[in-house]
Amino acid sequence: METLSVSDLKSGMTLSADLIAPNGRFILPRGACLTPKNIMSLKIWGVSQVFVADSPGPGFEEEGACLKNPEILEKARCSVRELFGGSFPESAGMNEIYRVGVREAARRLAAETDLSSSREAKSFFVPQIFSCTHVGEDEGFALERLVEMEVELVSFPETYFRISEALQSPKSSITHVANLISKDTALSAALLRLANSAMYGVPAKVESIPRAAALIGGNALSILALGVSVAASFGAVPARWVNMQSFWKHSIAVAVLGQVLSVRKTPRAIERIFVGGMLHDIGRLILLRHVPLSMTKVLAAAEAEKAPLVEMERRMLGFDHAELGGRLLEKWGFPRILSDLVRYHHLPEKKEEDSFSLGVLAVADVLAGVLFPGSGGSMYLPELSDALWEMMELSPEALDMVIRQARRQITEIYDLFKGGVDGGTEFSFR
Ligand SMILES: [Fe+2]
Ligand SMILES: [Fe+2]
Repeated sequence: METLSVSDLKSGMTLSADLIAPNGRFILPRGACLTPKNIMSLKIWGVSQVFVADSPGPGFEEEGACLKNPEILEKARCSVRELFGGSFPESAGMNEIYRVGVREAARRLAAETDLSSSREAKSFFVPQIFSCTHVGEDEGFALERLVEMEVELVSFPETYFRISEALQSPKSSITHVANLISKDTALSAALLRLANSAMYGVPAKVESIPRAAALIGGNALSILALGVSVAASFGAVPARWVNMQSFWKHSIAVAVLGQVLSVRKTPRAIERIFVGGMLHDIGRLILLRHVPLSMTKVLAAAEAEKAPLVEMERRMLGFDHAELGGRLLEKWGFPRILSDLVRYHHLPEKKEEDSFSLGVLAVADVLAGVLFPGSGGSMYLPELSDALWEMMELSPEALDMVIRQARRQITEIYDLFKGGVDGGTEFSFR
C-alpha cells in the first residue's frame, strides 16, 4: 500500500482503502479504479492524500482469510441460515443477501465480535415477555381502537401540526418552513445534526435552519422534521417489553440502507425513504404497548413455526404492524406517500404508486436484518421476490459498495441520536 498526494495520482490507479473526504463523506470504495474525473473531484472535496495499490488492499485479504477458515465459515453460515428459518434461500435476491450475510458474519467472527453478542444485540423482546403471565387479557385489538389509543396517548407540540400543514400546502415557502422549524430549538438541533451528517456530505458546516432548508429543500426538511418528532415521541416512552436500543439500531440501519440504495435512482426521495425506514416498524411498539399478551402469543407461534413475525401477525390478529403504523402516521398528518411507505413495507408489490421506494424499504429491511445489529422484532426474514430484487439493479459490486457506505453512515447516525438519559443507553432524538 502506498500513500500518494492527489497531484501524483494517475487514472487507472486502484484504491487500497475506502476514500473518505475530510468532512466524513464517503467518496469511493476500496478497490475502485481512478478515472480523470475522480481525480478532479478529489481536489474539490479537499482530499490531499490517497492510499493506492495494485492489490485490492489489506481489508480484502482479511475478508478472504476469514472465508477460507472452515470453522469460521461454518459458524457464519449457521448463524445466517438461522435467519432464513434453517433453510437455504431459493430466490436470486435472497441468495445474494445470504452470500453477503455469511461474509459479514465471518468478518465479525474473525474480529472476535462473537456472534453470541451480536445475537444478543439482535434481541428485540426482553426475555421476561415469555413469562408475562401476570398480564391480564388484552382489552381487544381492533386496529382502529389501537390507533385511537395511541393518538390519545401521544400529543405533539403545535409546531408539529403547522409543519405538517405546510408540507401539504403547495403555497408554503422555504422561508415559512424554516421559520416554523426554528421555533423548536430541540428539533432544530436534531435536524442540523442530520444536515451535517455524511447523508448530505456538505463540505461547509450548516449552522442554521434557513441554510439547511436552502440546501436540502423546504419539503425535505419538513419530512425530516415530522420523522424526528414522531421518533422522539417513541424514544421518550419505551415499550415495557422491548429492547429499545435494538429497535432503533434496526430502524436506523433500514433508514440509512434505504437512503444509500435510493440515492442513485431517486435522489429526491431520500428523505422520505430515510423517515420511512426510521418509522417502518413502529406498529410493533404500539402492539407491545397496548396488547402485550396477544403479541406474546403471536411471537411464540412465529417461533414455533420459524415464520416471519409479520405473517403470524396477519394470521392471528387480522392485520400487521405495518398497516397499524401506516394508519397511525396518516392520523398524525403525515402525507399519504410517506405513511404508505410504512404501511406497505412488507407488501411492496401491492402498491403501484411509489413502487421503487417501497421496494427499496423492503430490501433495506431484509439487508439490515442480515447484516447489522438491531432488530425490528422478527427472528426470521420475510421473502423478497425476484422481481423486487431485479428492480434494485444491484450488481454484486454495487451491493458491496452500498454495504460499505451504509456501515459507516449507520454508525454516524446512531451516534448522532444516542445519548441523553441513562448514560447514553437510551435514544434521544431531540
Ligand atoms: Fe416490518
Ligand atoms: Fe424491520
